[in-house]
Amino acid sequence: TLEQIKARYLGKSGQITELLKGMAKLAPEERKQAGAAINRTKEAVESALTARREAIKRLALEARLAEESLDVTLPGRGETRGGLHPVTRTLERIEALFRSIGFEVADGPEIEADFQNFTALNTPEDHPARSMHDTFYLLDENGKVAEDILLRTHTSPIQVRYMQAHVAKYAHLETMPEIRIIAPGRVYRVDSDATHSPMFHQVEGLWIGENVSFADLKGVVADFLRRFFESDDLQVRFRPSFFPFTEPSAEIDVAFMSGALKGRWLEIAGCGMVHPNVLRHVGIDPEKYIGFAFGMGPDRLTMLRYGVNDLRLFFDGDLRFLRQFV
Ligand code: PHE
Repeated sequence: TLEQIKARYLGKSGQITELLKGMAKLAPEERKQAGAAINRTKEAVESALTARREAIKRLALEARLAEESLDVTLPGRGETRGGLHPVTRTLERIEALFRSIGFEVADGPEIEADFQNFTALNTPEDHPARSMHDTFYLLDENGKVAEDILLRTHTSPIQVRYMQAHVAKYAHLETMPEIRIIAPGRVYRVDSDATHSPMFHQVEGLWIGENVSFADLKGVVADFLRRFFESDDLQVRFRPSFFPFTEPSAEIDVAFMSGALKGRWLEIAGCGMVHPNVLRHVGIDPEKYIGFAFGMGPDRLTMLRYGVNDLRLFFDGDLRFLRQFV
């Protein structure tokens, strides 16, 4: 609008411009007076236009400043910082320690097939060991218990899957490379008290080769436990036991030589030499290959490492408890 007004008075055919042009027609004595009057008017219009232009600029700037105002004196909104769950810290620690001695970390599904969870592990249907692993079954679309799937009761099926894939991958070789893995993850059983939760964690380990012995098992596990607990005088004991998937089998107990738990034997893991039937189930020749497996509870390891006496605290989600580990 302002520019239009400027054109109306001062443009090429603006009113003031026309007046200036018309001066030529005036008598010489009128010219001087008229010229002065026209110029005064012109200056007045020009300065009015300038003043208005400045005013508009200032108003626009003020409006923008008001709109974009940022009060740097306001207190900040703050940052909430997350932290790793104590069991996650333990899992990461276990993975790092096993990676350092050449183990790979394997993964697998939490909804597992009956074959990988039980049958391949030498636990056929109706085997009494299945009842120790009472788990959560899943319903199919008709609301019936699905026949072949369940929530895995241990992470051993990860090892079964890994062995099956390994065998397929190296089928062209006369001798397959060694298998050296740990299998960490969540597992499920119908169990609930201060030391058992229906969902808990396991880390299982597997080493299969042409020449792997029980002595290797003892060495790997004992060395791991001493490094995990940062204690050279930790005592490790192998106590005969039974698992369908290992033969011979043992429970692993540890005893600390100092601290609150000094001198007490604590069960920490199960282990043994992989049963020939397990190897057969995944297509590995038990006459050629041999190996060991172990399974431990990182929740239990976390309790011992941090002195926690109730497993359920880990899964209640109470920040007052969890914050202590951050
Ligand atoms: N899978 C066993 C369990 O959950 C643990 C285990 C693994 C025992 C490997 C021996 C060898 O009970």
